[in-house]
Amino acid sequence: MATIAETLNRAKVRLREASVQNDVLDAQTLLAHALGCDRTYLIINYREELAEEPAAKFGELIERRSAGEPLQYITGHQEFFGLDFIVTPDVLIPRPETEIIVEETIRLAHDLEIESPVIIDVGTGSGCIAVALARELPQSSVIAIDVSIAALLVASQNAKRHNLNDRISFLAADLLSALAQTPIADFLVSNPPYVAQAEMTGLQREVRDWEPALALTDFDDGLSFYRRLMNDAVSRVKSGGYLLCEMGFSQSVEVMAMIDRHYWIEQRLLDDLQGIPRTLLLRRA
Ligand SMILES: C[S@@+](CC[C@H](N)C(=O)[O-])C[C@H]1O[C@@H](n2cnc3c(N)ncnc32)[C@H](O)[C@@H]1O
Repeated sequence: MATIAETLNRAKVRLREASVQNDVLDAQTLLAHALGCDRTYLIINYREELAEEPAAKFGELIERRSAGEPLQYITGHQEFFGLDFIVTPDVLIPRPETEIIVEETIRLAHDLEIESPVIIDVGTGSGCIAVALARELPQSSVIAIDVSIAALLVASQNAKRHNLNDRISFLAADLLSALAQTPIADFLVSNPPYVAQAEMTGLQREVRDWEPALALTDFDDGLSFYRRLMNDAVSRVKSGGYLLCEMGFSQSVEVMAMIDRHYWIEQRLLDDLQGIPRTLLLRRA
């Protein structure tokens, strides 16, 4: 029987051979997952010998990771805005840059003293934006839309886990097509699929081969959802309300050029931590 330290070392070598970048962290996370403990336990108890069953289970997890499966699909979890989310291969794994939309919406709701904001989240996926906003803005009501029923099932599980299912409604629809053309939203937020079809092959293998294509690309030039959202949002966002959308790292110039300034009076780009414009913010006239 091998100790925790020996097992982790062997797994690290295997992951490195398979070109997995965070070999040490991934090996520790997967062993903690197999044992049902946290990573601190492994560090403190590195001399402990592993029983046969968890050792075999860990071996299987390491092989899945070596084949390129994202860590989060193996463990079934990802943290977003300080909350734990269930993730499955039916949903995009929430990314840290998407937290900008959440932070900015919360800031605006507080600054403008909007007591009971109505929020529409288009392309909710795991529900990460919808759940984080519903939790941080306790008087809000959220409509979470996705065209994927499988994604909506994961999102509603996440809403239930965080006791927010009474304030989030889920809607299976193509963008805003199921909503009347009535200006009900104080905030319309979206992280739409924005990878151009032609760029899909160049993505990292974990993303390209494992995350849902429907969540990544518009099967066009990567910009079609911005055209549609800016147009469809005009009749659903209240006067003085906001549209916040995440963008790809090189799309800001093209997206800014699409704005109809007659309808959207304030236009701002918010940078991510690397200083890349990542989020478009528009205010309805
Ligand atoms: C980039 S993912 C964002 C998921 C989640 N909001 C996040 O930030 O992690 C885009 C989501 O849009 C959904 N989607 C794709 N086409 C759509 C459409 N026409 N109408 C509504 N949702 C759509 C996908 O199923 C996917 O869940």
